[in-house]
Amino acid sequence: MAKRAEIVIGIDFGTTFSGLSWAVNLGEKKVSVVNSWETLTSFRPTNDKVPTQISYTGNEPTSYGYTANKKPFKWFKVLLQQGHYSEGVKDVRAAQDSLSEVSKSIDEVVSDYLRWLWGRGKEDISRKQGSNFEEEYECRVVLTVPAVWSPVAKDRTLKAAKKAGLPSNINLVTEPEAAALATLKEVSSEGRLNVGDVFIVCDAGGGTVDLISYMVTQASPLQIRECGVGEGGLCGSIFLDLAFENFIKTKVGELKYNSIQERHKKKMLDEFENQIKWNFEGDAKRLYSVELRGAGDDQEEDEDLIEVEGGTICSIFDDVCGRIDTLVENQMEQIKAEGRNTKAILLVGGFGSSRYLYSRLNKIYKGQGISVLQSKDSWSAVCRGATMWGLEHSFIVSRNARYSYGSALRTKFIDGEHEENDRVWDASCGVHRASDQMVWVLKRGEEIRNGRVVGWKGFTPILERKLMSTKTHSFTRTLYYSEQKTAPRRRLDGAIPLATISFEIDSAKILKLKRRKGADGNTWIDVHSNAEIKLHNADLGFNIFFEGESVGYTQVEYKEDSG
Ligand SMILES: Nc1ncnc2c1ncn2[C@@H]1O[C@H](COP(=O)(O)OP(=O)(O)OP(=O)(O)O)[C@@H](O)[C@H]1O
Ligand SMILES: [Mg+2]
Repeated sequence: MAKRAEIVIGIDFGTTFSGLSWAVNLGEKKVSVVNSWETLTSFRPTNDKVPTQISYTGNEPTSYGYTANKKPFKWFKVLLQQGHYSEGVKDVRAAQDSLSEVSKSIDEVVSDYLRWLWGRGKEDISRKQGSNFEEEYECRVVLTVPAVWSPVAKDRTLKAAKKAGLPSNINLVTEPEAAALATLKEVSSEGRLNVGDVFIVCDAGGGTVDLISYMVTQASPLQIRECGVGEGGLCGSIFLDLAFENFIKTKVGELKYNSIQERHKKKMLDEFENQIKWNFEGDAKRLYSVELRGAGDDQEEDEDLIEVEGGTICSIFDDVCGRIDTLVENQMEQIKAEGRNTKAILLVGGFGSSRYLYSRLNKIYKGQGISVLQSKDSWSAVCRGATMWGLEHSFIVSRNARYSYGSALRTKFIDGEHEENDRVWDASCGVHRASDQMVWVLKRGEEIRNGRVVGWKGFTPILERKLMSTKTHSFTRTLYYSEQKTAPRRRLDGAIPLATISFEIDSAKILKLKRRKGADGNTWIDVHSNAEIKLHNADLGFNIFFEGESVGYTQVEYKEDSG
């Protein structure tokens, strides 16, 4: 049966809060955000997102989101990104040690959570589109991931989503791109965008803070292109929680703190989050307090009240916000390097709605004529933007490469320039060559525009007599990428294989080419081949040509964005 239309489902799987939105890709294309989350208490800071928490009984997940009350697992998302932890995240890891109590891997926990989230999404869609919507509509999911995620972490997220039973058609999109899409569309609809304006979108969430910048190339209809290279760091709002807990631990004494029941600590941290963190404006003179049962010396409840000076909260905030300042500064430097000025910084995400972060950035940039903007619905920007991305993203006319792409070649050995370790003897020409030298054809920060082609030439000398005894000759060509700011000159200094093409050429064809007498007295034939990569918005085609004909082709996803 022909399907009626498409339903796009946007999922923001966040470190601390997740969200789901959807829209029918027809007519009005209204984006609905699921906001009827079940809660245990009446305190709901936002209905647009739900805590990324899950509780198990034995091996079975039993409660989720706001209702996950029994020793819930949280912050498991950041554990998908292995090996990139700052000191703070080691604490996150420690907090997750209890995972071994249920025999589940991080990926399984992610799957369990996403299965529940999708279940809630299905209920919401069913209510409005009928319970058989999956039969009537094509369903496509746009799942967001932090821009700083490694390819492995992105792949783990995708696999977990598939295992969770989400519709199989899934696009991964970076969180800042989704956030930018939602916010810039909003600003654009208010007629506030002019050609040449550059905006930094700063998605400050629970675990990560991701930045991305766009320049308006056309105001109406809106067209934007990425500026500079987006950057991010693990300096989200949970680092405030961790620093606050460390402060309390020191104040109470580590031994005593460790003996206090987890539920009391959780209550104290909830109090910090709800009563102090979310409303903090930077009043250093104010005295705050939190209750921690068991912290006092006797049974008096007063003894359990711990006072915290506003100045202490300020320094906790300054430490984390300082890292965000640096990220913003770096972004601005890149924009300046392109000869442009930043018009505004758009703050989104939960932490992005912090008044303290807002006024701190405002203080720094107001004098420079740069506005700092916080919109009302900024917390759900990523979630809404994910669905909007699925509906339409062609107005993002180009992105910039976050990684460099290239190939390893043998070049003429130059004394003093090349490393002795790379020196190889080329018997066919009687010269020394430097092996595995990188040629980066697409460099970090360069524009990825649909249809752009970049290429390089290579040749392989083959002994004539070898060709006489075989029907075909086998070749391989590898495309590498590098995550480094300045891509390495040598393959061994950090080039990572992305795709390899193996192909064969008939010996008879090669034997038709020009021969040459080698320095070693043998007869050699140089087989020249051209390699090229054709850039598309979502992937790149890697192609090898011999004598003008394609002999090998493969399509691979960019390392930065598999959208
Ligand atoms: N006003 C505020 N000030 C500081 N932090 C806040 C504020 N409001 C919410 N938060 C924090 O923001 C976090 C939630 O934000 P958000 O939903 O954007 O993050 P996330 O998507 O879970 O994380 P990530 O994007 O890093 O995976 C929570 O840690 C919450 O305590
Ligand atoms: Mg987020």
